[in-house]
Amino acid sequence: MNKIWFDTDIGVDDAVALLCAYQLDNIEVVGISAIAGNCDIDNVFNNARNVTYLAKKDVKVYKGASKPLYKELKPATIVHGNNGLGDVVIPTSPAPIEEKCAIDALYEKAKELNGELKVVAVGPLTNIALTIRKYPDFKDYCKEIYIMGGAGIGGNASPCAEFNIYSDPQAASEVFESGIFIHVFGLDVTLQANAYSSEINEIGSYGNPASDLLRDSLKLAVNLYKFLGIDGTCLHDACPILYLAHPEWFKGEQCGIFVEPEGKYTTGETVCDLYSNAKYEDRHCKLYTFVDREAFVNCVKECYKKY
Ligand code: BDR
Ligand code: CA
Repeated sequence: MNKIWFDTDIGVDDAVALLCAYQLDNIEVVGISAIAGNCDIDNVFNNARNVTYLAKKDVKVYKGASKPLYKELKPATIVHGNNGLGDVVIPTSPAPIEEKCAIDALYEKAKELNGELKVVAVGPLTNIALTIRKYPDFKDYCKEIYIMGGAGIGGNASPCAEFNIYSDPQAASEVFESGIFIHVFGLDVTLQANAYSSEINEIGSYGNPASDLLRDSLKLAVNLYKFLGIDGTCLHDACPILYLAHPEWFKGEQCGIFVEPEGKYTTGETVCDLYSNAKYEDRHCKLYTFVDREAFVNCVKECYKKY
């Protein structure tokens, strides 16, 4: 069983990832931390609580950082709407509000599980960096992090930086230098994890609250992609989750990755060392570059049929 902590700026594709995680047999979500990114922290916090309620799950959600370490927050409203769920409104969770801060809650859970916890981080890495800063022994309890972020080649927030890393490049830099092994699902693989419009509509026809949310919340993203000449939209954040359930659908290579915290043109670039003579012990990441798209989308369909 994969016991995961989900750190999210939920977000339309984050919601797909979480709703899949809740249905996959070998994944147990043991806690969620909210991080500002796709939208402001209050919307992220409410979305994580409300999506969890929609899934009829009882998982605690903790509020994390409201802004990047040293930058201002620039939400991705063009894809995720003003509320982070493509402006779709879902019922409000009646669960009690967790007052503990996300950083303390994550550390305590990692310590309690004594090395078993896997962190899946699909937003800016601010909460993870702050946890590492506050608790230097966090890395003894959290041996692996699975992130959606970065790219071996290119970017979507700048020519060479992906949104999550670009949003808080200093935090990302600290996480990549922490010594924790990082599984990197960047644009190289997540751009392959595309669901076509026909597939989105098929899921949307299942007639349950989760499938309605997927269909309606992805409308802004699908329209944007149409403008770019692409049919459907990418389910970026579902990649690390589906990898944990089905690693056989993905291919990747061990390498070193470091983040440029600030550069004239390169702020937020994930500098990937695949081929130089770096020492093997510096190869502290695995960069994924391939996913079996059909198997991936079929799995998403199966998850949504269960709601
Ligand atoms: C990433 O940025 C956000 O818009 C998505 O939720 C995903 O985590 C893609 O670059
Ligand atoms: Ca995200």
